[in-house]
Amino acid sequence: MILDMTATDLRIRPYPLPRSLDVPEARPFLAASDLSNLIEREIWDHDDHCVAARTRFESFRPNGYEDRTIFLACENDEVVGKAVADVPLTDNLQTCYAEVIVHPERRRRGIGSALYAAVEEHARTRGRSVVMGWADHRTGFDTAGGVLTPATRAGSFPAASLPAVFAAAQGFSLAQVERCSVLPVGWDPHRLAVLGADAASAAGPDYALVNWVDRCPEDVLEQYAYLRQKMSTDVPVGELDWEEESWDGTRVREGEERLARGGGSSLVRAVLHRPSGQLVGHTILQRRAEKPGIVYQEDTLVLSDHRGHRLGMWLKVANLLDVVVVWPEAERIYTWNAEENRHMLDVNIELGFTPAGYTAAWQKKLEAV
Ligand SMILES: CC(C)(COP(=O)(O)OP(=O)(O)OC[C@H]1O[C@@H](n2cnc3c(N)ncnc32)[C@H](O)[C@@H]1OP(=O)(O)O)[C@@H](O)C(=O)NCCC(=O)NCCS
Repeated sequence: MILDMTATDLRIRPYPLPRSLDVPEARPFLAASDLSNLIEREIWDHDDHCVAARTRFESFRPNGYEDRTIFLACENDEVVGKAVADVPLTDNLQTCYAEVIVHPERRRRGIGSALYAAVEEHARTRGRSVVMGWADHRTGFDTAGGVLTPATRAGSFPAASLPAVFAAAQGFSLAQVERCSVLPVGWDPHRLAVLGADAASAAGPDYALVNWVDRCPEDVLEQYAYLRQKMSTDVPVGELDWEEESWDGTRVREGEERLARGGGSSLVRAVLHRPSGQLVGHTILQRRAEKPGIVYQEDTLVLSDHRGHRLGMWLKVANLLDVVVVWPEAERIYTWNAEENRHMLDVNIELGFTPAGYTAAWQKKLEAV
């Protein structure tokens, strides 16, 4: 679809991914990446979450699990807004994930609405009936304009913030709030070691930790894929209309290779249940070479039959203690948890994480037209 709002000289169009970043057609991609980074700085007031264009480019390369389409809003030759429609291909076939951003100096002129309209039309064309999107806000927000609370009653998001008013105007509702927390690497290793030893002794001899960097060992690949699959629905999902993802070893490998192409690395710890020989939990830390100081805590999961043995704490402590050895440049760790995920939040607070922001998950169910 091409929207041509000639009265304002604005064009909204799907943007085909160039074959590389070194060709002239890649210029809009580079400008859109700069715009995304500008918005990250606006939201967080620092550039920890800014991402190099090359890394973004890798994440857009076609793969068998999701189809990502970029829409650009351009005035003359300048990129003033961007939207991404992300359509899962192997599960959640009713869903489209959406992102919309507009340059701060070009807002309140209908550009965001026009970009979102392009995403929604794309979602309908692809047979999708649910659109989900996420927006961040740093801590310390002004509650004068009121707060929105999801149905779980856990967490809140400023009602007068740009994402909240925009999402409401597009017909979205707040499905969940996540807390973003941060932990500076200057922790007391002795304290962490004590937490880890206490957790290990609570877990007992039936459990053992295994670990790897970047590439899952072949002999536990399918077991690890099962944990990744369970991660999609065994964590609290609020009101999000989410189905279990479908994972196998091939999907794990594809993710590992994509991460490596974007200069990323991962540190994985898993817990083995000795009597059954099965992996029953895992935790993942990731970082990108372009920003070696910033580490992201990705999945942490313990399968439901094995909860209540301090395995979550044991896994996390063991991985954190490795960070300074494997990635000595690491400065801080970021993690996102659902506000209703009391157990994980309690573990993180005990480890020293403190709130840095909140992420709203928005959802809109599309009506048949
Ligand atoms: C949210 C964002 C994309 C909106 O872009 P935009 O081009 O200003 O959006 P529009 O002009 O189409 O506004 C659409 C409607 O949203 C609401 N809205 C947007 N900004 C608003 C503001 N500052 N105050 C009140 N309402 C606002 C209004 O209802 C508006 O319609 P109206 O102008 O007819 O009253 C933009 O502010 C942005 O990039 N923010 C940072 C990233 C982000 O939060 N993305 C959205 C994630 S859900």
